Amino acid sequence: MNGKLVVACGLVTLVTQVGALQAQQGDAGQLYARNCASCHGTTGTPNPAMVRSMGAIPDFAEPRALAARPDSVLIGAVTAGKGRNMPAYRSRLTPEQIRALVAFLRTLGRRQAP
Ligand code: HEC
Repeated sequence: MNGKLVVACGLVTLVTQVGALQAQQGDAGQLYARNCASCHGTTGTPNPAMVRSMGAIPDFAEPRALAARPDSVLIGAVTAGKGRNMPAYRSRLTPEQIRALVAFLRTLGRRQAP
């Protein structure tokens, strides 16, 4: 009886830890999907309708798009907004979330189309 209880507790702990790890890794992707993909597109290539209505939106899936931009510039753009149409996120996201998002943007340029 006690042995079973110990095994059960161990399992619960394991499942909880795996869940937390997945949440951490998926966090930036989920933030991006929720806050940014409507304009920037799920793959980083902007939605054509948004480009028509807003003008130029950088293509994050293009490896060179962000290469020349240091993190500080990208963090600044997300924090304070850019141009007329890139919203400021300083009141909606924490600095940690914004940093994670910028790191996530850089991974979009490394993905190859299937
Ligand atoms: C309402 C549409 C919209 C949403 C939502 C949006 N963006 Fe943007 N974003 C733009 C536009 C338009 C630009 C181009 C601004 C310019 O250069 O004038 C831009 C530019 C940027 C840039 C600057 C890139 C560069 O080369 O300087 C970054 C970084 C960025 N967006 C990240 C994000 C992130 C991260 C999110 C989500 C938290 C987000 N954007 C949400 C429209 C949007």
